[in-house]
Parts: sequence; structure tokens; C-alpha cells
Amino acid sequence: MASSVGLAGRHTGPLPPEAVVFGQTPGMREIRARLDRVASANVSVLIEGESGTGKEVIASLIHARSPWTHGPFVKVNCPAIPATLMESELFGYERGAFTGAVGSKPGRVEMAHRGTLFLDEIGELELSLQAKLLQLLQDGQFCKIGAQEDRKVEVRVVCATNRDLEHEIAEGLFRQDLYYRINVVNLHLPPLRERRADLPQLIAYFIDSYNQAYGRRASLLSPELMQVLHRYHWPGNIRELANLMKRYVILGNEEVVTTELQARREPTFDFDIPPDGKVSLKALTRQATRDVERKVILRVLQVHNWNRRRAAKALSISYRALLYKMRDAEVTAASASFDGTGLAPPVATSYAGD
Ligand SMILES: Nc1ncnc2c1ncn2[C@@H]1O[C@H](COP(=O)(O)OP(=O)(O)OP(=O)(O)O)[C@@H](O)[C@H]1O
Ligand SMILES: [Mg+2]
Repeated sequence: MASSVGLAGRHTGPLPPEAVVFGQTPGMREIRARLDRVASANVSVLIEGESGTGKEVIASLIHARSPWTHGPFVKVNCPAIPATLMESELFGYERGAFTGAVGSKPGRVEMAHRGTLFLDEIGELELSLQAKLLQLLQDGQFCKIGAQEDRKVEVRVVCATNRDLEHEIAEGLFRQDLYYRINVVNLHLPPLRERRADLPQLIAYFIDSYNQAYGRRASLLSPELMQVLHRYHWPGNIRELANLMKRYVILGNEEVVTTELQARREPTFDFDIPPDGKVSLKALTRQATRDVERKVILRVLQVHNWNRRRAAKALSISYRALLYKMRDAEVTAASASFDGTGLAPPVATSYAGD
């Protein structure tokens, strides 16, 4: 599980230069201005944005610019840690707290003392733990499992989510009081399709850094391919672009990119009139409905980290109905990449949250 100390230990590698991170589109300029104002103050920040928009990059930048930059940067990937282990992972335990607790163990909160605690996918945190986190944010105190007394820590808490937390509050899944505490400052990262003007710079950056990393000399892309990339809708955002550029650099030709993008095009319903002129309205309508269903189901599963129970709830259908529809439409993790999401379910949570 990813917890890292200092920026060097970030599992995603070194940060891109700030000129690349922020680009020049108005949405990101606003993010930069806000980040400039809040990085040095110890206030909680909530980073929202679709998958792959750079939430972790921004969290790391906040840490790098904070007065605690030499302190630890501790990441907690909430969906990757089973709910039963989360409390001890976050808050630690004392010796004898439960069977098997032969020694005491610090939690991530304690490990983040005088640094940054980055809670990724905070929407996945159970309600009982949300209460404990609230206490930490209110008075900087927490209690290890099995401890008699509370402890005090100084931590800057940064949270990220790709869910709509206000919707989760309305559903009773997220505490409103905690939401106010983590959302002192809000950074909403725009999807890549809303910052297309930044594409040339991002593409040049990725080609250059993968050339260096893999010892290649791939050249910049042709104007024709650049046009195709400009028109593409980028459902997997910057991560999708980075992966595509990595393949281009390693395999060394533009056809790889062109073919992949063709396969990922959004499926649009179409039909031909056969020579006999007969068209079955019923059959075509059924096919069109299935196409739409498949697309909606894939998107919703992606938003819910492939947790099928949550996805069924979001779609207002039963769990069984969702499984049936997924099988019927052959919706699998593998199909996600062909539908342009480029996102397989996260390994640790694939179907595990159901
Ligand atoms: N502005 C940026 N400039 C350059 N590279 C970026 C930028 N934002 C993100 N990246 C790269 O894109 C990839 C995805 O970024 P990151 O992991 O921060 O996204 P995320 O929003 O946390 O995604 P998820 O919701 O899936 O966890 C990483 O490889 C990261 O280095
Ligand atoms: Mg992330």
C-alpha cells in the first residue's frame, strides 16, 4: 500500500514542472491561484475531479509548497484498504488491543505528524471512521485502538474524491459535518476535454519524459494526429493521454495511437437500410437501447470504482439486475478500455467492495 515519506517516495515518480501541471487554460489558472493562496496555510483541502485529472499530483504539490515540505507525505488509498483494517491502519493500536496485537503500531495519522495526510477517495471511508476523522480535524486529537488516552498530532489533511460528496451526504453515506471540515478550500480539477488548449504542451512533456525514461528518440506527433487528439473526448483524462504517449514512444509509430483511438471512439448507434428495404423497428430499438445501457453502465461503474453494489444503487436498479445487464452487454473490465475509459477496475477493489 502506498505510503510515502517526502516527495521522492511518491509512487508516481517526480512531479511534472508547474508550467505543465497548470497549463494555460482559465480553469487551471484558477486552481493555481487558489493553490498559491492556501498551500502555506494549515487548512484542509478537498480536491475533486474525474479519474486521471491529476488529483494526486495536486496533493503532492500542496505538500511540496507547504511549510511541512520536509515532513512526511502519507497517502491512504481508502478503497484499497478493507474496512475491517482501516481503523488500525489509520489510527494504529496499542499492545493487547485485540488478539494478535503483540506490539503497538502507529497508524498513518501518527506517521503524518508535521507533514501531510493525503486521504485518497475519501468517499469510501465508513461512517464510523468518518466520526473519528472528524475528531482529528476538530481538535488535532485521535485515539489509538486500545489506548486509554487521546494523542495529539499536527497534520495537514488533503482529501481527494471523484464522487459527488454532496450527493453522498443526501444519501446518508457521508457526514455533512465532516464534509465542511475537509472542504475548507475546494479545488475542482477540470477534465482534459475542457482544457484541450493544454494538449500540445502535455503531449510534448510526455514524449520528452518517456524518451528519457526509455532511452528512445520518438519525435513529436504529426499535425494530422494532433488534430485527431484534439477532437477526442478523453474519458480517462491525463492518465489516458500519458499511457497513450508511453505506448507511442515505446512502439515508435503513430499508427499505434491512431488505431487505439479508433477502437475507443464513443459507440454511436447507426443502421443501414437493407436491399429489400425492410427495417425492423423493434429490433433496432432494442439494439439502440442496449448500446446506451452499456455505455451508461460502464461510466457509472467507473465512477464507483467498479463497486457493483454502489453502481446498482446509483442506477436505481437492483444488484441482480445490474449483474444480468452486465453479462448481457458483456461489460467487463477489459471492455472498459475499448470504450475509451482506458480504466480497468482497481486491482484491490475489483468487485471486492460488493
Ligand atoms: N497536470 C499534469 N501534468 C502532467 N501530468 C499529469 C498532470 N496531472 C496528472 N498527470 C499525470 O497523469 C496521471 C494521473 O494523475 P493522478 O494520479 O494525479 O490523477 P488522479 O486524479 O489522482 O486519478 P484517480 O482518480 O484515478 O486516482 C499520473 O501519471 C500523473 O503524473
Ligand atoms: Mg488518484
